Amino acid sequence: MTSAAPSKTIFLETFGCQMNELDSELVQDQLSTLGFTFHDSRNSADVVLFNTCSVREQAENKVLSRIGELSVEKADGRDVIIGMLGCLPEREGESLLSKYPSIDFLCGPSELNMLPSLLDNAIQGIALNRADRSALQGNRSRRSAALSAAEDNLELLDLSRSFNPDYLQTKGKSAYVRITRGCNKFCTYCVVPNTRGAEVHRPPDSIIDECKELAETGVIEVTLLGQTVNHYRYTHGVALNADGIEVPQIGPGLTAFKKPVAPSDHVTTFANLLQRIHEEVPELQRIRFVTSYPRDFGDDILTVMRDCQRICNYLHVPAQSGSNRILKLMNRGYTVEEYLEFVDRARAIIPDVEIAGDIIVGFPTETEEDFQATVDLIKHVRFKNNFVFHYSPRPGTVAIDRFEDDVPRDVKRRRLNELLDIGAVISGEVHRAYIGQEIDIFVEKVSSKEHQQKGVELRWEQAKVQLSGRTAGDLICVFDVNQDVAESMVGEIVQVKITESAPLLLKGTLSVAQLAK
Ligand code: SAH
Ligand code: SF4
Ligand code: F3S
Repeated sequence: MTSAAPSKTIFLETFGCQMNELDSELVQDQLSTLGFTFHDSRNSADVVLFNTCSVREQAENKVLSRIGELSVEKADGRDVIIGMLGCLPEREGESLLSKYPSIDFLCGPSELNMLPSLLDNAIQGIALNRADRSALQGNRSRRSAALSAAEDNLELLDLSRSFNPDYLQTKGKSAYVRITRGCNKFCTYCVVPNTRGAEVHRPPDSIIDECKELAETGVIEVTLLGQTVNHYRYTHGVALNADGIEVPQIGPGLTAFKKPVAPSDHVTTFANLLQRIHEEVPELQRIRFVTSYPRDFGDDILTVMRDCQRICNYLHVPAQSGSNRILKLMNRGYTVEEYLEFVDRARAIIPDVEIAGDIIVGFPTETEEDFQATVDLIKHVRFKNNFVFHYSPRPGTVAIDRFEDDVPRDVKRRRLNELLDIGAVISGEVHRAYIGQEIDIFVEKVSSKEHQQKGVELRWEQAKVQLSGRTAGDLICVFDVNQDVAESMVGEIVQVKITESAPLLLKGTLSVAQLAK
């Protein structure tokens, strides 16, 4: 790295899912260690990095319009380096460099360990050809045992996370921990298997160590991340790559080793992993995980969730559609009946579990009858909330090649709004059921909208501030406290008595037991 690097400031903007948020955090750690400083103004930074998402066209358009604005500034003489990270360059490839000449370099999500050298080249103004200005996986990891080398570097990136005491000041007491990279499911509409590569599970000891170190810095809540997180399965000693070829695994300390193993007791399942984190990191008061895949839920996972008090009673398990015909075209690998069987089983084992989901409306050939089946599914499951998306055809997916995007825009919009309306009624009822209960809230922040004192303000009355947090079941809850104690409650778990509700919100007051503390 050049001696000029430390004086450079970086603006980093993140789009997309929790994986990207975590990657951005690791990028920030990595580049701060090298002497860069992070800056919250895009207009004056020396380097602008976008960590991008490609899951829907809209997500890509957002970042491309930012690039357009910066191109104009660059043409007007602004000296700024632009780097595009994440899923969009991985999906689109090097052609982005010719389409958008203002972009200095591209770095895919599986190549983030290459970022410092890409950035250094750009700072030094080394004139490189297109290939040297991009670090992209280009599906390499799906091909061979070269996987282990790439994996090594990625594992190093996760292990490079800084656990300094400043962590709490900058990131709060809640942290993401990756347990699985990539995805092997190939749902026909989805870019993720192409952008994030083959599914690779991290060694359980590395995950536990990371949780312990986070807990030592004061973190009390972790969210385990994977595209199909409950599919986690680590075979010690020997692993198979996507082609079924044995590759050496990376053990703790990153020495590649290969030794013969007896099958049964050398596998760590997702249920084992949850239980180990719960037992071995007692400082963690909340353990969550996203996103779950409906088909991989054995009773072992649900039973561990029931028996381990600090594992949250929350599941995000997208159904995507309520029609078997559409689920088949999506290659989701389950039927509506199987999905409902899973929901019934989850509720039988964990009665207070809250379930959230995702739905795609307007998938090619979706009829009113298919849509009605989705309405029925939503009414039956009673999700605490559902994220509803229009189908967006994505280059490189099976669906864009095989099916015409034949559901008109206005029909997609109507179906989306209808699902949102029905969902709001159900969420309203789910939330209302909490009125009168005293529940633990993990306080996340001082809510932006300050409490408005109504009527005459009495002089001796302290100003109130609204705090916002979440229940273990992931319901958002706001409550008012006196201004002088507000900051000290952020990052704590407090007990709140719920007095009111709205479709996506609980409102309450600190419980008497809490006030007495
Ligand atoms: N791995 C997660 C979800 C990843 S993408 C899972 O399988 O559940 C997040 C959500 O985006 C998906 O659940 C899906 O509902 C939505 N999505 C993905 N591709 C899409 C597309 N092409 N058009 C519209 N929505 C899409
Ligand atoms: Fe995409 Fe399906 Fe994998 Fe989720 S499970 S990331 S929707 S391919
Ligand atoms: Fe988007 Fe990539 Fe995540 S496409 S949803 S940022 S895995």
